[in-house]
Amino acid sequence: MKLWRVNRVDIEGDGPKDGGQGTQGTQGTAQLERSAEIQEAAEVLRQGGLIAFPTETVYGLGANALQEEAVRRIFAAKGRPGDNPLIVHIASLQQLTDVTDHPDRLPEPVQRAMRAFWPGPLTLILPASSKLAPSVHPGLDTVGIRFPSHPVAQALIRAAGCPVAAPSANRSGRPSPTTAQDVLEDMADRVDGVIDGGPSAVGVESTVALIERDRAVIYRPGGISKEQLEAAIGVPVELDAHLVSGDQAPKAPGMKYRHYAPDAKVYVWWGDADRVAQKMQEFALQCSGEPIAVISPTQVPDIPGLAASWTPQSHEYPAALARELYRLLREFDRLHVAHILIAGVAPDGIGLAVMNRLEKAAEGRVERV
Ligand code: TXA
Ligand code: MG
Repeated sequence: MKLWRVNRVDIEGDGPKDGGQGTQGTQGTAQLERSAEIQEAAEVLRQGGLIAFPTETVYGLGANALQEEAVRRIFAAKGRPGDNPLIVHIASLQQLTDVTDHPDRLPEPVQRAMRAFWPGPLTLILPASSKLAPSVHPGLDTVGIRFPSHPVAQALIRAAGCPVAAPSANRSGRPSPTTAQDVLEDMADRVDGVIDGGPSAVGVESTVALIERDRAVIYRPGGISKEQLEAAIGVPVELDAHLVSGDQAPKAPGMKYRHYAPDAKVYVWWGDADRVAQKMQEFALQCSGEPIAVISPTQVPDIPGLAASWTPQSHEYPAALARELYRLLREFDRLHVAHILIAGVAPDGIGLAVMNRLEKAAEGRVERV
């Protein structure tokens, strides 16, 4: 296994997208593409190998999406159920012709979404091209496509010259990795190489959506909010029924699996800040000194057994929580805490994605107070 570190100076030009042109890389990305590290990693992808790489959401475990053998190695490395389709990553709009048959005929709201949010954390469900390896979208005639904004991801995909299938680079059932260290913890002996491009800026996965002529459905909430999507595409956006009621089968096969659950038991309270703090204190009192970790917008006093805690430094709590959540869950497991107490957030904006991940991590132990 090879580990490449990509210098922060090389990825200048990272950050939120600018105006939506998104078909050309920044000069920084072009330089990055020619670097020895990216060239080497791209060659591994072309030869059918597995490369873990940074994106703005979480790290991906990439393989050439046109090679069936290579794509199957992803499922083996992750221990991923074979019926769970992969997201295919592209690095230009021209590359759409490799992954879907008639990109020019996509409904207008789909094109609006691409203009507004690509490159960025939005995955669109599109009709699948027969060029794709069948295992990318098992039993489905659609495929999830994403154009990531991370310059390292873009440089790698361009250098490889092929669309790159990549789920999150964790072993199945573990929190998604947001640092190269997290990837190594799960995957060191299962991949050909890892590119370290620093911590992911968004921290939760992309929003997965099916957009049609007159409506859209979010299959998985993520880095682009329902409100943002609705404002940009001009048709109503609904949440997939399983996100609303819980007893429907999800449209994204991956949403049915137990995900993101750490070894410690997670408890979430949200609503009035004082009531949340009080709930945490009451809970901790009953735990007779067992090691506890706390995640909240400000320090909570009087927690017996407090072994670790996290509060955001300067950023707004929901976005900071999104960025740090998976890393914290992994860190607290390494500390062997028994309970993780988390102040949740209102389920709007990025908060919807955060609460969706927290529901799973807490296995339903979420209470509004
Ligand atoms: O942010 C992300 O999306 C990250 C980075 C690496 O890009 N990738 C990621 O991939 O989270 P993964 O495989 O962990 O999650 C993909 C989700 C799954 O829930 C899967 O079921 C759903 O997208 N999905 C993929 N293709 C689909 C399709 N054709 N129809 C419905 N759901 C699909
Ligand atoms: Mg995943």
